[in-house]
Amino acid sequence: MNRDESPPTQAQGLTKEVAISTGMKPATWSYAETFIVEDDVLSRARARGAEVGAMPIGQGGGAALRFLAAVLGAKTVVEIGTGCGVSGIWLLRGMRPDGTLTSVDIEAEHQRLARESFAEAGITSQRTRLILGHALDVLPRLTDGAYDLVFCDGDKKEYPDYYEEALRLLRPGGVVAIDNTLWHDRVPDPAQRDPQTVAIRELGKRIQDDDRVMPVLLPVGDGLLCAAKRG
Ligand SMILES: C[S@@+](CC[C@H](N)C(=O)[O-])C[C@H]1O[C@@H](n2cnc3c(N)ncnc32)[C@H](O)[C@@H]1O
Repeated sequence: MNRDESPPTQAQGLTKEVAISTGMKPATWSYAETFIVEDDVLSRARARGAEVGAMPIGQGGGAALRFLAAVLGAKTVVEIGTGCGVSGIWLLRGMRPDGTLTSVDIEAEHQRLARESFAEAGITSQRTRLILGHALDVLPRLTDGAYDLVFCDGDKKEYPDYYEEALRLLRPGGVVAIDNTLWHDRVPDPAQRDPQTVAIRELGKRIQDDDRVMPVLLPVGDGLLCAAKRG
C-alpha cells in the first residue's frame, strides 16, 4: 500500500518544474541532483520502492544524508519510514562502521524488501534494527538523548510529532533531517491547503522560530529540512 499519500497529480523528483520555480536552470538542478551517482545496489532498491509505492528519497537527498551521517560521526541513527531501504543505505554508508540504524515502518512488506536491499549492499544484520509499527507508538520507547541523527520520512501529517520526538531522542549537537519539506512544490504556495502541505508548512514555521535548534532548509530533491539541536 502506498502510505506516502502523494498528491495525485504530482510525482516525486519533478526536477524540471522545481528548477523553473526556483529560477534555477534545469541543467544546473539536474547536475546537482546527480552529482553523486548512485550505484546498482541503490538503483535496485529504488526500483523496489517505486514498485510498492514507498517512494525513496531522491539522489541528492540521499547524498546529503550520507554527508550528514559522516560529519556527525554517527553511530546511532533513527529513521522513520524504512521504505525499501534507499535512505537507509545512504545513511549506513555515512555512519561509523560499527553504527546501528534503527528504522521504523508500518508495512512489513516494505521492511522485507529493505532487508533484501541491505543484504545486497553488504550491510550485516547487526547494523540494522528494523521495528515494525506505527512511528508514534515506537518512538516514545526509544532512549532520550541517545541518537546522533534522526531522519523523518513517514506520514507527513505526523511530522510535527516526529519533530518533537526527534528533539527528545537527539544528543546535543545531533541533527534531525526531514524529507519532502517542499512537498512537490506545494509548501511555498499558500493556495495549497491539503493536510500534508499544511502540516509541513506549519512545522517549517515552527522550526524557524525554535530556539532549541539551528535549522537550514536544503533545496535538494523534494526539500530536506535539517536542524541541529543546540547544546
Ligand atoms: C516515502 S516512504 C520511505 C522511503 C524511504 N525512506 C527511502 O528513502 O527508501 C514512507 C514510508 O513510511 C511508512 N509509513 C507511513 N506512515 C507511517 C507511520 N505512521 N509509521 C511508520 N511508518 C510509516 C510507509 O509504509 C513507507 O514505507
